[in-house]
Amino acid sequence: MASEDAFKVSSLKGKVALITGASSGIGAGAAVLFAKLGSLLALNGRDVENLKKVAQQCIDSGATEPLLVPGDLTEEETVKRTVEQTIAHFGRLDVLVNSAGILAMGSIETTDLTQYDRVMNINVRSVYHLTQLCVPHLIETKGSIVNVSSVNGQRSFPGVLAYCMSKSAIDQFTRCIALELASKQVRVNSVCPGVIVTDVHKRAGLDEEQYAQFLAKSKHTHALGRPGEVDEVAHGIAFLASDAASFITGVNLPIDGGRHAMCPR
Ligand SMILES: NC(=O)c1ccc[n+]([C@@H]2O[C@H](COP(=O)([O-])OP(=O)(O)OC[C@H]3O[C@@H](n4cnc5c(N)ncnc54)[C@H](OP(=O)(O)O)[C@@H]3O)[C@@H](O)[C@H]2O)c1
Repeated sequence: MASEDAFKVSSLKGKVALITGASSGIGAGAAVLFAKLGSLLALNGRDVENLKKVAQQCIDSGATEPLLVPGDLTEEETVKRTVEQTIAHFGRLDVLVNSAGILAMGSIETTDLTQYDRVMNINVRSVYHLTQLCVPHLIETKGSIVNVSSVNGQRSFPGVLAYCMSKSAIDQFTRCIALELASKQVRVNSVCPGVIVTDVHKRAGLDEEQYAQFLAKSKHTHALGRPGEVDEVAHGIAFLASDAASFITGVNLPIDGGRHAMCPR
């Protein structure tokens, strides 16, 4: 058996992939892995300097120069421009990876509507909008979508209310549109990471000491005894996006060291 048949994730070679959240963390890791697998990349993020650094890592990994489509995805014009520029540049779209998102702390007693809207606008509304504009192009290529959800969508945690709700919405969005697009041979899945070492927690307000404690606690809150790494999620994204997952759609795949299966006792 030829090596490319043995592991069909190599089917991402030459595929055009639009990746959001590509300026940091999981989205950046996915961009670099897709680059290694030979994909043609359109990358979105707000921080242009970081986006350029990730693009350089992609080039160093063997990719042709990625198209940068920076901007805030909660702005409808940015979403439209992102899709238009990607199609104008590459003429097609095979894969959409929705990784842009934020975490915010707060309970029903402390999450005001401003924070609720801030979380929902990027974690859900922008994903809905971008996906909607990409779908006609993905139908043409019989492409695939991978949403970056969270274990927080599957399990309930106090103190991160709007975030948990936003990720549940993404899991349901994934399953519903998987059914809606199945007859057109577009596959839709999500990855549901546990705690992954990125900037997301500090950006949500944890200081260095709190973050160190949070990571230490992750040894107990994840069955495998540790938090995860960006690359471990990136491989799940690449698998689901590729022909290696050709009979998988509507799945919310935990990449969480077993956390989704745990129960306190
Ligand atoms: N890390 C974890 O433990 C974990 C666990 C489960 C799920 N997740 C999910 O994984 C995804 C990526 O998170 P991460 O951990 O990689 O966090 P991160 O390092 O903070 O990256 C977040 C990314 O989202 C982008 N972003 C945020 N708001 C945006 C906006 N309004 N418009 C456009 N882009 C925006 C950021 O862009 P800029 O930096 O350029 O502003 C950045 O590229 C998120 O959906 C998160 O909920 C993370």
